[in-house]
Amino acid sequence: MKSKSIFYIIYNIMKNNFKNKFYNEISVKLKNDLYKINIGYMLLKNNIINFKIKKKNNLLIITNKIILNLYKDYINNFIKKKNIKYKIFIIKDGESYKNIKTVNKIINYLLSNNYDKNTILISLGGGVIGDITGFTASIYHRGIKFIQIPTTLLSQVDASIGGKTGVNHKIGKNMIGTFYQPIIILTDIFFLKTLSKKELKSGLVEVIKYGIIFDKKFFNWIEDNINDLININKKKILYCVNRCCEIKSFFIKNDEKENNIRSLLNLGHTYGHAIESYTKYKNWSHGESVASGIIMSCFTSEQLNIFKKKYTKRIIKLFKLLDLNIKGPDNMNATDYIKYMKIDKKATLNKINLIIPIRIGKAIIMNNVSENIIIKSINKAKKL
Ligand code: GLY
Repeated sequence: MKSKSIFYIIYNIMKNNFKNKFYNEISVKLKNDLYKINIGYMLLKNNIINFKIKKKNNLLIITNKIILNLYKDYINNFIKKKNIKYKIFIIKDGESYKNIKTVNKIINYLLSNNYDKNTILISLGGGVIGDITGFTASIYHRGIKFIQIPTTLLSQVDASIGGKTGVNHKIGKNMIGTFYQPIIILTDIFFLKTLSKKELKSGLVEVIKYGIIFDKKFFNWIEDNINDLININKKKILYCVNRCCEIKSFFIKNDEKENNIRSLLNLGHTYGHAIESYTKYKNWSHGESVASGIIMSCFTSEQLNIFKKKYTKRIIKLFKLLDLNIKGPDNMNATDYIKYMKIDKKATLNKINLIIPIRIGKAIIMNNVSENIIIKSINKAKKL
């Protein structure tokens, strides 16, 4: 009881302190890498961050047309201050372009323009651009440096952190990839102001996921502040992004290569990736697919007599406030799900292993979940 109340006091002091400032730095210390996540508002403009780029470094920014049009001056001013030349390489937007063809295009450009091993790639964009850029950096000249500048909520709280890079294959999502860490992550919530509500809500699904798997108090806080988060209240979003980065870096520090606890971050993703693969990475956003997947995982846990129905109800309520479809695609039946779930990276010997919540704030890995329970969970979600 005593330690609980001390924890609560410290938690609130930290929370209130952070709410009153606009910059924070989180160190991600791994076995072979150390890098910082810089989180703030107008981070690049105010030049608060301090990292060095040498004259010999050629910079290539990988981004898409929309982001470039919105933020060209912002980025230009930032890099100009560092007195460095850079070029921009535009790729097409969307999960359906996260494939080996796009990587090949970047590599062709790098090779034909004599980019050497001192090149630094900068990913300016969401998770798709970050994954492609990181993967390209990891294989070009056997590995060059890369910087993450995540511009979506989803990439700020999840995809940019922890070095998962890669591309999709038509057989499954993220089937080709590497673990390869950036040298720095520059997380500026200023970018969120131009994010569509749909993309913002997709990011909030991953935010809610952290509450479910790890932090009950954070989950309660999200419930109390969901409308402010949807409306991008600056202080609250900043607190929220910071808390997610702290949680994610905790997982990465303890299990960089996903041998155990890191896989808890995949709550809802086995069902969710099946949706994304089935719909060919079109129409269903990652967040919406994962939201459906989280609800299906709650139903799985309920059927195993682990998760209480009242918790599932709270999670459904939050997703409904975000106006998300949590039933999965109408035309996708349980057999379609099972087909893709069996080739998920967590599957072993054709057996489906799932992350399931056991209460708000804690999740576990459940091996070899029966197909019957999975089918019932999918069908229960369809009736919502
Ligand atoms: N997005 C889950 C992870 O990075 O492990």
